[in-house]
Amino acid sequence: TGLVVAMDGPSGSGKSSVSRGAARALGLRYLDTGAMYRAMTWWMLQQGVDLADPAAVAARCGEPGIVSGTDPDGPAIHVDGVDVAGPIREAEVTGAVSVVAAVPEVRARLVALQREIIGSGDIVVEGRDIGSVVWPDAPVKIYLTASPEARARRRSAELAGTTVEAQQEALARRDTLDSTRKTDPLSMAAGAVELDTTALTLDEVIAEVLRLVKE
Ligand code: ADP
Ligand code: CDP
Repeated sequence: TGLVVAMDGPSGSGKSSVSRGAARALGLRYLDTGAMYRAMTWWMLQQGVDLADPAAVAARCGEPGIVSGTDPDGPAIHVDGVDVAGPIREAEVTGAVSVVAAVPEVRARLVALQREIIGSGDIVVEGRDIGSVVWPDAPVKIYLTASPEARARRRSAELAGTTVEAQQEALARRDTLDSTRKTDPLSMAAGAVELDTTALTLDEVIAEVLRLVKE
């Protein structure tokens, strides 16, 4: 197995920015597994699948053709040939994704796709279960954290028309769903290094990741 950097942690801890920056600096590919769960959720909403019914989600989750790019400068994501990079960041998808991601059949399908991509060469991969489930043999595993307040501040700085308080509530809800689901809940993988980004700048975090990779 080659160089796989597994980057896990909760929403707003800095996974996307840090992973892309590190991949760029190292000349590696980059995979955003959260975008794949978002793409699956976008498709389910388009199809009118009842997300409250896990059996209905499981029955349909093999249908969409989900294709992820691996360029850290412009991560692409398509569903059946449609570019969904914009729509998957909308509030409707963000509000529903953790429910779809809790369905074991959805996870089995997306984890298989992720393993195919990772197996084809060196890469930085971000998600919730990369170091624990998707690629437990990754030579570098990082678990990013930040205080709930810092995470909410970062998210509200990115999104127009929201408050830090509203973001903190939304993140807490997603944290609970992600860390209490029965299949592969969010948790720190064995062998992972925890990196608290609360008091660091983005560049400082990337520098620390590069140091861990070169160790
Ligand atoms: P995640 O993928 O974990 O949800 P993102 O990378 O999408 O996190 O969001 C983090 C946001 O916070 C970005 O806008 C980033 O520029 C900003 N940020 C501020 N300080 C830091 C830091 N120390 N580490 C990472 N991101 C930071
Ligand atoms: O960018 P943000 O941190 O808000 O979320 P994301 O990384 O896009 O992930 C969206 C959701 O997908 C998470 O809240 C999880 O419910 C799910 N997810 C997952 O279950 N496993 C992964 N490896 C990645 C994401």
